[in-house]
Amino acid sequence: MKHLISIRGSRLLLLVLATGLLGVFCPRASASLKTTQAPLKQIKIDLNNKPALRNGALYTLHVCTACHSLQAVRYSSLSQMLGMKKSEFMHDIGTNGRHFHDLITSNMPPAIIHAFVGTTPPDLTDIARRHSPAWLYTYLTSYYVDPSRPSGVNNAVFHNTSMPDVFAPYQGLQKPVMVKGLRYGSPAEVAIGVKPLSQGSMTQAQFDRTARDIVNFLYAVAHPHQQERERLGPWFLGLFVLLSLLTYLIYRIYWGRVITSKERWWRSVK
Ligand code: HEC
Repeated sequence: MKHLISIRGSRLLLLVLATGLLGVFCPRASASLKTTQAPLKQIKIDLNNKPALRNGALYTLHVCTACHSLQAVRYSSLSQMLGMKKSEFMHDIGTNGRHFHDLITSNMPPAIIHAFVGTTPPDLTDIARRHSPAWLYTYLTSYYVDPSRPSGVNNAVFHNTSMPDVFAPYQGLQKPVMVKGLRYGSPAEVAIGVKPLSQGSMTQAQFDRTARDIVNFLYAVAHPHQQERERLGPWFLGLFVLLSLLTYLIYRIYWGRVITSKERWWRSVK
């Protein structure tokens, strides 16, 4: 018995110590993660805008899949999502030499891409589910020239990203807007935005539209049933209201037949 009590006592002591230590270290841990963030640029997602989705699909399948896969969809399911017939899809967008029913994988062999950028690019569906549209849009439009990086560029929302600036030919180059801030708690020069440095093949408005269309398309791929859910939602709410009414009626009928103790007393006297 004594033995048991001493084990319990030592466990209690450990628990108290651990809680104390957490209290001491946690505020510091959260303070040390403080980082000055670039503000995110909000965008509106419109899953009914088929031309925007098609434009997004065109760029994603011809630029991004050079490195990234998009494994949650097949080309065939895309053509349905974009409201295109198979022939239209094959003519306007195409499958980069793959079969129409194939999953969308990158043509770049993993070993080569790893040697090229030092990491394996994550799957784009996975990326689109993890990040908000605002983050994705800001990321795609916030590359800036940074000679200290192996790729020559850096990003205002993803510091030291190993993804090269694939938009440089369209968007042109950009320079950072630097402020003195914190990076993971340490004082540093942090980029909170970008400014144009040279003109690409697109105007600013054209490029912004393209980036928005890509994000719109990625969001549609990552949330394939969103429109169906929105369509079915009101019907389900209606069904719940109807069921509530029915169950209330049944409740009234049942309790109308139940003799409560007060009534029983009254009946027995009678
Ligand atoms: C040259 C190869 C290459 C191309 C082309 C490319 N990417 Fe990337 N991308 C990468 C690599 C590598 C990473 C991983 C970056 C890291 O972890 O540092 C990445 C990361 C990303 C991320 C951040 C993901 C995260 O981990 O949070 C996004 C978003 C992204 N890519 C979107 C795109 C889009 C959209 C396109 C097409 C317009 C594209 N990429 C084209 C190589 C590429």
